Amino acid sequence: STPHRIALVPGDGIGREVVPAARRVLDAVCERRGLALDYAEYDWSCERYEREGAMMPDDALDRLAEHDAILLGAVGYPGVPDHVSLWGLLIPIRRRFQQYVNLRPIKVFEGLDSPLRGARAGEVDFVVVRENVEGEYSEIGGRIYQGTPQETAVQESVFTRAGVTRILDYAFGLAGRRRGRLTSATKSNGIVHTMPFWDELVRERAAAHPAVTWDQEHIDALAAKFVLRPERFDVVVGSNLFGDILSDLAAAIAGSIGIAPSANLNPEGRFPSMFEPVHGSAPDIAGRGIANPLGTIWSAAMMLDHLGHTEAAADITSAMASVLAEGTVRTPDLGGAATTGELAEHVITALRPLS
Ligand code: NAD
Ligand code: IPM
Ligand code: MN
Repeated sequence: STPHRIALVPGDGIGREVVPAARRVLDAVCERRGLALDYAEYDWSCERYEREGAMMPDDALDRLAEHDAILLGAVGYPGVPDHVSLWGLLIPIRRRFQQYVNLRPIKVFEGLDSPLRGARAGEVDFVVVRENVEGEYSEIGGRIYQGTPQETAVQESVFTRAGVTRILDYAFGLAGRRRGRLTSATKSNGIVHTMPFWDELVRERAAAHPAVTWDQEHIDALAAKFVLRPERFDVVVGSNLFGDILSDLAAAIAGSIGIAPSANLNPEGRFPSMFEPVHGSAPDIAGRGIANPLGTIWSAAMMLDHLGHTEAAADITSAMASVLAEGTVRTPDLGGAATTGELAEHVITALRPLS
């Protein structure tokens, strides 16, 4: 078969450490499984911005469109304002390629310590489905009267029937393939105008998915329930901002934000999807070779799964699980002293022999 064309965008900070580590794992798995990936690596980053005045070249999105999938590290670095790096790279990719689903699985693995006393391995296993192209992350708004006492910032939230419907259908569909439970993150107690609309659409789509049991929780109460009863969740669907916040909270519950993966999906497959860890460029630890690569490695597994290589994807996630259960090789965020490279190599060693 023709090799899948993969765009690698390491970006900034620890992105440049975790993407090469994940690539080594991908290479090892592909060799065992007889798969071929054809990589193109792009140096689009804050460094490029400082050198050339733009995060990406003008034709970057057209070039990415030629690929089957994108593996991204993270962007953002001190000295370049975040709005430059994010509106200059991350957000345009998500939007141009209609990656309207941001899928963020959370699992407490055997051998990992959740900061929550009650969160036991095997019991906490859910997915945050985050709306990824509209909602609170809108382009409508701005700042006026800067530097005066009247200085004002305004941003409009945008919720469209089509946009909300498609994310809900994806989430209900996913719940149907999992344990059949969906929770909607809302804030409909009369203050936020957009959320009663979201709730209406949830009820409407629920009727189209009668096999799924669903409920809704206000985002504030839901955050508390994540901490108190994380095992009760299966699929949690939320708007762009709510999903963003819930996914870091969930990652922390699972033991470290360094493990959490994400898939920015264009489910129709018209455009490439993008896979990236939930975490950012972590300037505080960048350059030291101690970043946890598992979030990116798991994201790479989600990429293989998306490309149809379910078994190769499972090879990676089971190797990860056995490395964590064994517990001898860990990066500092997990309480160990291993380097990024050592942990990645250990995942490769733990790949089960093909039967
Ligand atoms: P962050 O995720 O980069 O870091 C938060 C904390 O988690 C830091 O203490 C960091 O050291 C730690 N951490 C993160 N990833 C880790 C890993 N793999 N292993 C061990 N520890 C890890 O979030 P932040 O500090 O809010 O943002 C830093 C920069 O990253 C900003 O410029 C932000 O805009 C950017 N960012 C980019 C993306 C992206 O490109 N998708 C995502 C989030 C943040
Ligand atoms: C994430 C990140 C981004 C987001 C930021 C960096 C814009 O936090 O992928 O979760 O909020 O989408
Ligand atoms: Mn986030």
